[in-house]
Amino acid sequence: SSEGLVDKFGRVHRDLRISLTDRCNLRCTYCMPADGVPWIPRPELLTSDEIVSLAVVFASLGILEIRLTGGEPLLRPDVVDVVRRLAAIEGERGPLRVSITTNGIGLARLAEPLAEAGLERFNISLDTLRADRFATLTRRDRLTDVLEGIAAAQATGLRPLKINTVAMHGTNDDELVDLVHFARDHDAQLRFIEQMPLDAGHIWSRVRMVTGEAILDVLSAEFTLDACAGRGSDPAQLYFVDGGPTTVGVIASVTAPFCGSCDRVRLTADGQLRNCLFARDESDLRSLLRSSASTDDVAAAIRASVTAKLAGHGIDDPGFLQPDRPMSAIGG
Ligand code: GTP
Ligand code: 5AD
Ligand code: SF4
Repeated sequence: SSEGLVDKFGRVHRDLRISLTDRCNLRCTYCMPADGVPWIPRPELLTSDEIVSLAVVFASLGILEIRLTGGEPLLRPDVVDVVRRLAAIEGERGPLRVSITTNGIGLARLAEPLAEAGLERFNISLDTLRADRFATLTRRDRLTDVLEGIAAAQATGLRPLKINTVAMHGTNDDELVDLVHFARDHDAQLRFIEQMPLDAGHIWSRVRMVTGEAILDVLSAEFTLDACAGRGSDPAQLYFVDGGPTTVGVIASVTAPFCGSCDRVRLTADGQLRNCLFARDESDLRSLLRSSASTDDVAAAIRASVTAKLAGHGIDDPGFLQPDRPMSAIGG
């Protein structure tokens, strides 16, 4: 049944991001409030069977890749089982490719089982190498667990191992060079990310944001950077560091949006389909699944959502409104 998931702008959707839980064991300031988090009630979370059924429908519509996100996806007790079952689904070009974005805590235990279950690769968030700063930024003193997780992910041999760093003024903007050295030493690809307005406190400010350009200025003073070709639908522009093979990336979602080549849709932990990180509307696939709806009904709802997708995030538009849910409840 494949004309694929094509939107009004001709963008073909190949990539589904599934949030496994809105819970997290950190409280990063750019993503979650310190306390009083309005957790999704348990009965509203998709079960692993429901996740798999939906993934089968998405695969029939042309989705080739699934990225598991959170909150923190490793907090879901059945994460290994979910990976195994998703990686067994046939897409148009063979089995679905399954990857995960995690804060790394728990990987010391889970990296190997996840690799064995068929995971393709890991993206791990790390914003600072200093324990005191880590504790302030994430409101939890767990840098050691993250570093152990990175080592365990590296030991699986799955590559590229990507490290995500949100660049922030006065928080880690004096550590960018150190982080590149760390990534190079760990055979990882570091990507610096512009902070987006997705924090629970709505304190994001365009003026205070560290831009991709500023990041490149700092890095260029230390390293020779040569742009790699072909960004495609990859959010990151990559650069060879000092002639390679190490690469460093910049994800300038705000100042250089990749919306024009966006190939993503997102499923929240409570089964709501979002056609954009910044979408104002969600499509309630959970209710459809729990009613007597047919597979065709679910497929039609997915198509309708993709059709309604806007051209871009609109952060620079007058009257831009941040999504109601914080990043942790949308799934990075
Ligand atoms: P790869 O497949 O490894 O390239 O993963 P990814 O970069 O798509 O995913 P990851 O979860 O590592 O996200 C890295 C950064 O890109 C995060 O800050 C995400 O929020 C951001 N990002 C991912 N998808 C989108 C998107 O569709 N729109 C925008 N604006 N940002 C996104
Ligand atoms: N802006 C940009 N990136 C963010 N992330 C979380 N919140 C934000 C934000 N407000 C990143 C995390 C993680 C990825 C899923 O998204 O650092 O690496
Ligand atoms: Fe796609 Fe929306 Fe992200 Fe832009 S902001 S890349 S349109 S999901």
